[in-house]
Amino acid sequence: MSAPGHRRASKTRPPRARSRWRTAATSDPLDLYERSVQDPPSECDFVEQVWGEFHSARRRSRPARRCMVIREDFCGTAAVAIEWVRRGRGRRAFGVDLDQAVLARARMLAARRLSPAMRRRLTLLNADVRGAAAPRADAILALNFSYFVFKTRAALRRYLRGVHQSLKPGGLIILDAYGGSDSFTETREEQDFDGFTYVWDQHSYNPVTHEVINHIHFRFPDGSELRRAFTYDWRLWTLPELRELLAEAGFRSVTVYWEGTDEDTGEGNGEFSPSTRGEACPGWVAYLVAAR
Ligand SMILES: C[S@@+](CC[C@H](N)C(=O)[O-])C[C@H]1O[C@@H](n2cnc3c(N)ncnc32)[C@H](O)[C@@H]1O
Repeated sequence: MSAPGHRRASKTRPPRARSRWRTAATSDPLDLYERSVQDPPSECDFVEQVWGEFHSARRRSRPARRCMVIREDFCGTAAVAIEWVRRGRGRRAFGVDLDQAVLARARMLAARRLSPAMRRRLTLLNADVRGAAAPRADAILALNFSYFVFKTRAALRRYLRGVHQSLKPGGLIILDAYGGSDSFTETREEQDFDGFTYVWDQHSYNPVTHEVINHIHFRFPDGSELRRAFTYDWRLWTLPELRELLAEAGFRSVTVYWEGTDEDTGEGNGEFSPSTRGEACPGWVAYLVAAR
């Protein structure tokens, strides 16, 4: 498995043609973020996978219940919520973010990607995730480590309790986390995309508190750069801490989904399955899934 980068460095992506060179002046950081960091179809596939696994294991004789309503916390441009409502009638999504500017961007993307009928099933809320007034959901997602902004056990447990109360019975919380020996170092990782280079900069790491400052920079072929396009001031939570906090917040069946390994490359293969044993590799991304 490879180093995680911000997100899907370990997922295989088809190479894209270098059809169009970009520059810092002509680029929008949110657009580059979406191109380099996010993979909404994979996230929605994962929601469907774990929903099936959790509910088939527990279904017994009851008819299958479908996951229809998701809430994407820390949604930013709401890429996952938009993909979710695109996937079929009856599906609803709520996106929650504090930042009015990124939500404006999400509305623009929704207008471009969704029909008016689909847009009616998407609700964007400018709110704190700890107090969002959304109806109860089947699944609540906090992805790309965004909940790492909560730096104490008390603060994170409060958020998780709120999520627990906001789920329908049997509903799922889906989080991701990163770690591995490289995550405890101050290092940079670069990845080339179509017309730009993504730089994941683990700028500082404090072993006493596990506080980290990470930046994303974007570099361009003409030598221009968007330095510190995004900055994250986080606590790097470990999987055992997160499992314990989820249980303390009332969740049951707390399950870690570990990424499989591609036999040819030795890298992550983008497929995640329940596991009680990980691999002591330099960098990994895993999911935690738990049920109300
Ligand atoms: C790393 S971005 C995540 C974007 C997207 N969810 C993703 O998966 O890439 C973090 C987002 O969380 C938002 N945010 C931070 N603290 C928040 C809070 N307490 N409540 C709601 N949104 C918050 C920020 O405004 C920012 O848009």
